[in-house]
Amino acid sequence: MSNLRKKLIAGNWKMNTSRSEAIQLASNVIADSLPKEGAELLICVPLVHLADIGKLTANTHIKLGAQDGHWESNGAFTGEVSVSMLKDYQVDYLLVGHSERREMFADDDARVAKKFAAALKNGITPILCIGESLEQREQGVTLEVLQTQVKAVIDEVGIEAFSDAAIAYEPIWAIGTGRTATPEQAQEVHFELRRWLAEYNPEIADGIQILYGGSMNAANADELLSQNDIDGGLIGGASLKAEDFLTIYSFAG
Ligand code: 13P
Repeated sequence: MSNLRKKLIAGNWKMNTSRSEAIQLASNVIADSLPKEGAELLICVPLVHLADIGKLTANTHIKLGAQDGHWESNGAFTGEVSVSMLKDYQVDYLLVGHSERREMFADDDARVAKKFAAALKNGITPILCIGESLEQREQGVTLEVLQTQVKAVIDEVGIEAFSDAAIAYEPIWAIGTGRTATPEQAQEVHFELRRWLAEYNPEIADGIQILYGGSMNAANADELLSQNDIDGGLIGGASLKAEDFLTIYSFAG
């Protein structure tokens, strides 16, 4: 399969960084990196920092992402921020369906699909996060689990909508554990997922970026990113240090 896909190196800061730390971190990422033909850099920052960081990333090669958003434009949803509100902050990407949100904040497949649709409606590229638990992997149902998670979104928006979206495969057992999937394990899942997507639409399957996430770091990124079907990384812990994050970027594209 031809591989003309750009690599996407995405930092997921999760619920980390004070205001000044966020500004410092983003400033370092911007100052210490250069644009590349074959790769893009994205930082998904806490909502409260979007305005500050958006001012820094504007007119640079760094894309800006949010980690969550509600599908309704507005209404009585105390504490929530809508996807349409994010639009005012020049947000390019939105994470949807991260396993931490699925596990701790009741983001089931139906809600994830609505968030994905809301992102597209607002001109924001969704990154659909999917992944299996250790138990599911040991039961040998990894692919079924991932397919169910993706199919819920395909049923809501159609396969064509994935022409402006990315997928992040994040095995739950590898997140924040230091226990990364081997490059072969990750490649196999990415390959199988792409092959399954091709049954819906070969062009979409060929073009979509499938990122790997789960303890990716400066030491293991090179091998992971050299796999044919791994089109980037969604990086938690290692994205909180500009140097580590940019070392990962140096292996991309
Ligand atoms: P870690 O890189 O800290 O394992 O987190 C991965 C992740 O959940 C990114 O979304």
